[in-house]
Amino acid sequence: MSAPAAQAPAHVAIIMDGNGRWATQRGLPRIEGHRRGVETVRTTTFAARDLGVRMLTLYAFSIENWKRPEEEVGALMGLLELYLKKELDTFVRDRVRLRTIGRTEELPAGVQRVLRTTIEETKGFTDYTLVLALNYGSRTEVVDAARAYAAAVASGREKLNDGSWATFSRYLYTSDMPEPDLVIRTSGETRISNFLLLQAAYAEFVFTPVLWPDFTKSDLAAAIADFNRRERRFGRTSAQLKPAAAK
Ligand code: IPE
Ligand code: IPE
Ligand code: MG
Repeated sequence: MSAPAAQAPAHVAIIMDGNGRWATQRGLPRIEGHRRGVETVRTTTFAARDLGVRMLTLYAFSIENWKRPEEEVGALMGLLELYLKKELDTFVRDRVRLRTIGRTEELPAGVQRVLRTTIEETKGFTDYTLVLALNYGSRTEVVDAARAYAAAVASGREKLNDGSWATFSRYLYTSDMPEPDLVIRTSGETRISNFLLLQAAYAEFVFTPVLWPDFTKSDLAAAIADFNRRERRFGRTSAQLKPAAAK
C-alpha cells in the first residue's frame, strides 16, 4: 500500500465538536470538555503546521451558540480570554499569525481587548495563520456582506452591473483568505452548522467520530491522507485533469 504523494491542503478548517459529550461520558461537567478542547486547539495549531498546512481555521463559537445556557456561554468566553492571554507569547515566539472571522464586536470587552493585542502583535507572520471563527455564522456573514456591497453600490464605489462572485466575495469576512481545501468535523455529526457555507463550495469534507478533546495529530494526518486520495474536479472531467499522463 503506497501512500499518494503527500501534499498538505493549504487551508484546513475544523468544526470542533464533541466537547460536551466527552465530558458527559466521564460524568464531568460540560465545561471540563471545553477545557480539554482548548488543549486540543493548542496541539492542533502546531500539528497542522508540522503537516504543512498554511492556514488553519477553527470554528470556536457560532452565532447560534449564544442560545446555550448562560453559565456555559460565560464559561466559554472566560476560557477564550484565558487561552488568548496564555498563547500570546507562544504565537509571537513560534510566529503564528492570529486573525478572526465573525462578529467579534459583539464579544465581551475583555475578549475583544486581548484579540486586538494578539492580532496586532502577530500580523507580520505570514507563513502560518490561525483563524478563529468567533461569533461566526455564514448567513450573518452574507447579510453583512450584502449590506456593505449595497452601500458601496449606493455610493458609486461599485457598479451593480459588474457584480460577480469575485467582486461580492471581497465583502465577506474572508475577503483576503484562500478558500478552505479541507473541512473536518469531529464527533460524528455530519452537518455544516452555518460554517463557511460559501467558502466551502468546493472543499473536501472529512467527518470523524473522534470527539474534539480526543483529536490528535494522527487523526489530522489521517484526514489529510483521505483528502489526498480525492480527486478535486471543480466541474471538469477526470480526463481533463490528467493531460500530462495522457501525453
Ligand atoms: C464543541 O463542543 C464546542 C462548541 C460548540 C463551543 P460541543 O459543546 O458542541 O459538544 P457537544 O456537541 O455538546 O458534545
Ligand atoms: C458547531 O457546533 C459550532 C462550533 C463548533 C463552534 P454545535 O455543537 O454548536 O453545532 P450543532 O448545534 O450541533 O449543529
Ligand atoms: Mg456540538
